[in-house]
Amino acid sequence: MTTLFTDLNSYSEWRKGIPADKTVGFVPTMGALHTGHVSLMRAASAHCDVVVVSIYVNELQFNSASDFQHYPRTQNDDVDLCAAANVDVVFAPSKSDMFVEKDVRIIQPSSAADNFEGLDRPGHFAGVVTVVDRLFSVVSPTRAYFGIKDYQQVAVISDMSSQLHPDIEIVICETEREHDGLAMSSRNRFLSEAARVRAALLPTALTSAITQWKNGATQTGVLIEAARAILTQDPTINVQYISIVRAGSMDPVQTVSALDVIIAAVVIDGIRLIDNMSFPIA
Ligand code: PAJ
Repeated sequence: MTTLFTDLNSYSEWRKGIPADKTVGFVPTMGALHTGHVSLMRAASAHCDVVVVSIYVNELQFNSASDFQHYPRTQNDDVDLCAAANVDVVFAPSKSDMFVEKDVRIIQPSSAADNFEGLDRPGHFAGVVTVVDRLFSVVSPTRAYFGIKDYQQVAVISDMSSQLHPDIEIVICETEREHDGLAMSSRNRFLSEAARVRAALLPTALTSAITQWKNGATQTGVLIEAARAILTQDPTINVQYISIVRAGSMDPVQTVSALDVIIAAVVIDGIRLIDNMSFPIA
């Protein structure tokens, strides 16, 4: 059975009742849950005694008030989905529970936030690490589960967590994709039918770079061009960046090795989509 807590006190009371030798797996989300989120819940439930999912649309990480207001809020469906995934607790706090003080102390992210999403979305990662730090303190998990879909977010949160919450283990989960390869995202629902079809060019472009690499091309410039060539077939796709970074870091590489990661962001019909793929070991 899944219990929904919508205030901090009732959650904290419940948390105090969990014996210290039990492991608590935590999946932080902003709701509008889909199969990608569910894969994190299943990973948590496979390795932890108790699973907590938080649903909190974090105003601090949005770059525009309108984007925050229009973010999908589907709490009833979300709770049903958590119940179907055997989640023990859904924690959906109000803003006043999360941030009691008048002036929130914003945590500055590590240098992993400097480029890419961090450059295009000023303040975004400060908002992310500020809320995740709060959630970690309140939820008090043993392990926390994040999707590699948000590659840079994983890097930034891992840095924050190793500094401020060294006892919490960060577990990274694979990206769940639609049948045509598009990475699942709460924002996909905003794509028009035509834009949704074109959005599949993003994973196609990343796959194309990986194919070229498997065929022997190792220079970043060549591989990025291969990806860009796919995306520029469609003039309505606005490429924000394509880069290749060293595995587990945000450091661009010149010559690509196995496990390095190609990362990209595009805007289609006003919707920003991000994706990444690793160059495989074999
Ligand atoms: P949200 O976008 O709701 O994502 C919650 C978690 O689900 C993140 O760890 C994200 O990487 C993961 N996720 C999203 N799409 C996925 C997919 N297709 N496959 C696998 N995992 C996927 O990320 C956030 O919320 C927020 O920034 C948050 C960390 C909750 C802080 O507010």
